Parts: sequence; structure tokens; C-alpha cells
Amino acid sequence: MWIQFVCVHTGILGCDLQTAICDVMSPAMSKLTTPSMTTSVMAAAAGGHRAGGSTARVRFGNHDWSEFIDTTDEWITSRTGIQERRFAADDEATVDLAAHAAETALADAGLEAADIDEIIVATDTPEAYTPDTASFLQHRLGCREVPAYDLGGSGCAGFVQALDVARARMMLEPKRVLVVGVELISRLMSWEDRSFCVLFGDAAGAVVLGPEGGQAEILDVVAGTDGSKTDILTLKTGGTRHPFNEESLASGAYHRLDMDGRRVFREAVHRMSGAITDVLKRVDRSVSDVSLVIPHQANKRIIDAVRNQLGVTEDRLYVNVHDYGNTGSATVPFALWEAKETGRITEGDLVALTAFGAGFHWAAAAVQF
Ligand code: UT7
Repeated sequence: MWIQFVCVHTGILGCDLQTAICDVMSPAMSKLTTPSMTTSVMAAAAGGHRAGGSTARVRFGNHDWSEFIDTTDEWITSRTGIQERRFAADDEATVDLAAHAAETALADAGLEAADIDEIIVATDTPEAYTPDTASFLQHRLGCREVPAYDLGGSGCAGFVQALDVARARMMLEPKRVLVVGVELISRLMSWEDRSFCVLFGDAAGAVVLGPEGGQAEILDVVAGTDGSKTDILTLKTGGTRHPFNEESLASGAYHRLDMDGRRVFREAVHRMSGAITDVLKRVDRSVSDVSLVIPHQANKRIIDAVRNQLGVTEDRLYVNVHDYGNTGSATVPFALWEAKETGRITEGDLVALTAFGAGFHWAAAAVQF
């Protein structure tokens, strides 16, 4: 019991360990394993299109890219389904988008910053190298001196993994946890690498988890990692193995993400459909019970392949990658908010969230509205 307790407190929680903890916790404690959730997201600050829902300010279509680099609208649309993405304005950085999303989520939940007991930010594009974005966000929002930390480097799976961590933290103590997924990939990527830059956009999304009274209940979350595949999606420069130096600066390697697109594609399909199957099994439900699947929005072809593997009809799958591109760990909370705002989710719906990302990580959550 003692070892399990310490492990949970670090916030580094694997799913087998989590299951073990559930098994030994008292029935009273296990009541806390279904935190309720109030969702709301926003990206970018002033200039948003409607209250609570827009991504970053600068809209950038496929034709804009074709004026910059050797690409075409036809290539991008047919290979990815992406037609447009938004980029943060020059005067915005990660915490600006994160704060906007968080404030919108708090308002939606009818809460103040002072009501939040813990903050987790999932991002690969932090405000600064150190400290973490969550520290900046805590101060910006005016929260109390509560624990705040990032789940960084886990790519686009970060937000759903963060839900898992938040949920585990809430098993120990009923608390309100703010979970944010935010990405300003436009600041990190090479604007000349056509096989990469056309895929991405900037955004943020946030949810507030609490012990009761929310709009939805997280029934369960599964997560996993295959660390033998770190090479298929990685930004090496800047870490201790490949530190920043004059050479990396001169060559532009500091923003060169290495990606084996085809392997990422295959893994993504396999892991996202597997994770949804697993999480539904754990809550004793089947795919036919799911009203809406919200997958990570990386590529329409990946989403279609997941749909085929699961046997889900098109109307039960949420897609907005054509409007925003891949916004990393923000895609799932943003799509969740948009689906809710546009009436695609109503009371009584079972919603399945899933994501994958560099690591190679994957995760899925079953959420009952
Ligand atoms: O959140 C996780 C992030 N990453 C992903 O989800 C990526 C997963 N993978 C994919 O989405 C797809 O593999 C890509 C969209 C990245 C690429 O699609 P693909 O069908 O696998 O194309 P490819 O990499 O095999 O490239 C085909 C061709 C190449 O030319 P050659 O060698 O056949 O002459 C590329 O150089 O397309 C070329 N190409 C482009 N052409 C025009 C690559 N990018 C572009 C571009 N415009 N932007």
C-alpha cells in the first residue's frame, strides 16, 4: 500500500499500477474513480470568432502554403484532409492560448481560478524550456499555490494521458483539476519542410475535473507506451544527447522533427482503435453503445482507417482536422468542446476519446454525458 501511494503521488502512473491501486482501495475510495468533467475550450486570445470557440488568430489555407513551399492544395487535401489551420499571432505564446482555454473552461464550469486544486498542462511546445507552462499558467490565472505541472514530450497523446493522471490524483483526494492541452507547433516546426509544416496548427483546449456536479463522468481511461519506437517521431536537438550548439543553430536542426510518416500512420491506426476497444471493455460497453468517437485529429485518412477498424459509421465520428490541422495535444479537448457546442454531444451520450503521439504513446477515455 505504501509503495503504491508514493508512486501515485509522483503523478507517473501506468495503467497496470492504476488497476492495482483500484483493487486495493476501499469501496469508499473507489467511488472517486469516476470524476465528473466540465468541458470548455478556447484557443488564442482577442480576435476569436465566437465566445469560447476558436483556434489561433491567423488563418492559413493550403493555397497560402503553396506560395511558400513546393506543395499544392491537391496534395495536402488528398493526403491529409487538411484545408486550413490557424497560427498564433506574433504577440502570443503558449500560456496565452492556455489561459484563454482555461478561463473559458472555468466559466463553463461556473468556477473561479481560486477553486482549482491542481493544474496539469499537456504540451510539447512549452512557454519556456524551464519552468513548465503550468507554473506560468497558475500565476496568470491567479490560482492558489496548488500543484501545477506539465506532461511534456508525450506528443499528441498528452491530453488524454493527463486525464488519466488527473483521475488517479482524484482517487486519493476529491479535488478540482484543470487539465489543458495546448500547442504552438508553428514556433517549433521548420517552415521549409513540406512533409511536416503543412500538417500542423496552433490551439488550446481545457477541461475542469471535479468530484461531482459536472456535465460528464469519466468512466475509465487506458494508456500505454511503446518506447522502442522513439525514433519514428522525435525532435532530438536541445536534449542532453544532442544539445544546442552553433552547428545545430546554423543547420536549423533545433526545429527539425524527424518523422517516419508511414510508420506513424500505421501505429496510430492500430493503437487508437486498440485503445478504444480496451477502454470500452473495461467499462463493459461495446462500440455500438458509443454515440461519438473523438480521435486525435492528425490526418483524415488515419481517422477513416480507425473508423473502419472499429466499424463505426461516419456520423458517429468527430472530424475537424480539415479546419484546424493537427494541433497536437489540443486536438482532443478542442474537438470535444466543439462537438458539445455544436450539439453533436447531448445528455446521455457515451463519448470515446483517443489519441496517439511521439513516444510512441496512446490513450483512450470513455466519457458518459
Ligand atoms: O500527431 C502525429 C503527427 N504525425 C502524423 O500523424 C503523421 C502520420 N503520417 C501521415 O499523415 C502521412 O504519412 C503523411 C501525410 C505525413 C504523408 O503522406 P504519405 O501518403 O505517407 O506520403 P509520403 O510520405 O509517402 O510522400 C509521398 C510523396 C513524396 O514524394 P516522392 O518521394 O514520392 O517523390 C514526398 O516528398 O509526397 C511528397 N510530399 C509532398 N508533396 C507535396 C511530402 N510532403 C509533400 C507536400 N506537398 N507537402
